[in-house]
Amino acid sequence: MVKAAWPLALLLVTPFDPTLFSDNSCLSKAFYGNYQQGGTTLSVLQPDPDCLDSWTSRTLQSTSISEATKEVQQLVWLEEQAIDESLKAQTRSFRNEFDAFLDTLATHESSPSHGAPAQEVIGEPQNHSGYDVLYRTSKAALLSVSHEKARIIDTLVPRFWKSTLLPNEPVPFRPVAPSTLGHAENVLANLKFDPVIASIVDNISIPQMRNDIRFLTGEDEKSGIVSRHSFSKGASTAAAWLKARFEETGASCNLKPFLVGFAPNVVCRYPSTVHTTSTVLLSAHYDSRGSFGSLRAPGADDDGSGTISLLSIARVILRKGVKFHSNVELVAFAGEEQGLLGSRAYARELRAANANLTLMVQADMLAFREPGEPHQLGLPETIGSPVVTQLVANVSAIYSPELRVGFTPACCSDHQSFHEQGFPATQVFERAGPSASFSRD
Ligand SMILES: *[C@@H]1O[C@H](CO)[C@@H](O)[C@H](O)[C@H]1NC(C)=O
Ligand SMILES: *[C@@H]1O[C@H](CO)[C@@H](O)[C@H](O)[C@H]1NC(C)=O
Ligand SMILES: *[C@@H]1O[C@H](CO)[C@@H](O)[C@H](O)[C@H]1NC(C)=O
Ligand SMILES: *[C@@H]1O[C@H](CO)[C@@H](O)[C@H](O)[C@H]1NC(C)=O
Ligand SMILES: [Zn+2]
Repeated sequence: MVKAAWPLALLLVTPFDPTLFSDNSCLSKAFYGNYQQGGTTLSVLQPDPDCLDSWTSRTLQSTSISEATKEVQQLVWLEEQAIDESLKAQTRSFRNEFDAFLDTLATHESSPSHGAPAQEVIGEPQNHSGYDVLYRTSKAALLSVSHEKARIIDTLVPRFWKSTLLPNEPVPFRPVAPSTLGHAENVLANLKFDPVIASIVDNISIPQMRNDIRFLTGEDEKSGIVSRHSFSKGASTAAAWLKARFEETGASCNLKPFLVGFAPNVVCRYPSTVHTTSTVLLSAHYDSRGSFGSLRAPGADDDGSGTISLLSIARVILRKGVKFHSNVELVAFAGEEQGLLGSRAYARELRAANANLTLMVQADMLAFREPGEPHQLGLPETIGSPVVTQLVANVSAIYSPELRVGFTPACCSDHQSFHEQGFPATQVFERAGPSASFSRD
């Protein structure tokens, strides 16, 4: 992790508005990403004083401006996740829960292996210094914390909350250009039932998926995986195992590190049989996190389910000898739980390489539904390109007509990294509605 501390920071938290980032806006270069607050997308900006002056004369609606009182080391966004009402009944009042969390943060003995030898952690966080609350509402907060606490904050956040590490430098805002959506529009317009594709879909093996998830969660003791937290040994085991399994199906895979201490992204590729730059990317995140201070992180649903779905696709590619007229990448990301870190690094890499990514779909949590509910497909309400989301909905209607398709407020998995780099992207989720998944396992 980058150790350089920022100077005292002037931070803006303002409702997301793409016009703020129109050509040559100084705010575009002060952009630290979009984050959620109870269904509203907010942008975090760190403009220099001149830039701020040029904007305060115009309306920056309901903007919160805060100044860090200490040196900013690592900014962390915290948000309550979009969960079903039935789960909300179980949460204590926000103030109690959040204050308890801040107390833990202040006093936490930051050796995460303490009391639980099962999870080995790379490196030994030492610094116990405090934190700064820069912004706080009942649904979200922005903190500045030490790098050491930032490494483990995801294991301490209140139930149903999620933490995201902000990047250490601005990431210029890049809207999805209409021209990049042409391929998806074309495929959508010409979509019709194809019996060959239906037979490929039918070839997915559920028993094999069960077997695969048992390995990833450690239910199969032979795997030795107790946690797939990005800093854990289990995550490295999972990465090596995934690479080997994908390679067995004919893919070329690379373990791509993106940050010191984190497990790598697993990037696998099937080249196109015709000459084209077009690349389709399907992904999931194989990292997990222990809920509410637990050091076990089996992550069967979140996101073992998406990860083994990718693997089941790879296995069908082998069994059916599928060949492509586009390059296809299957990618298992790490660092999602700390704030989309693995996917941000990879999306930036593809942007820098001017990759012709024509479609990107992230699968995060595909395995849970409330007893009695039908099988569902949840598509993102906020983050993603509508035409890509429509394409997935229409493909689903043709090949999996039993799925009830609808929108979900469950938000912000690795597709956001690609969306923010201007690539056509969407997400698939287990529920057409808010998350009802009990624990995040
Ligand atoms: C912890 O971090 C603070 C803030 O950067 C620094 O002043 C302090 O010296 C550090 N303490 C230790 C024990 O490293
Ligand atoms: C997608 O499906 C919807 C619902 O069946 C349909 O109305 C629409 O025409 C389809 N879109 C395209 C481009 O075929
Ligand atoms: C998948 O297809 C292969 C080749 O056609 C066949 O041998 C295999 O039994 C099928 N598996 C499933 C789960 O349908
Ligand atoms: C990207 O690939 C699509 C699909 O093959 C193609 O139509 C388009 O021209 C390509 N774009 C670039 C910039 O090469
Ligand atoms: Zn997830």
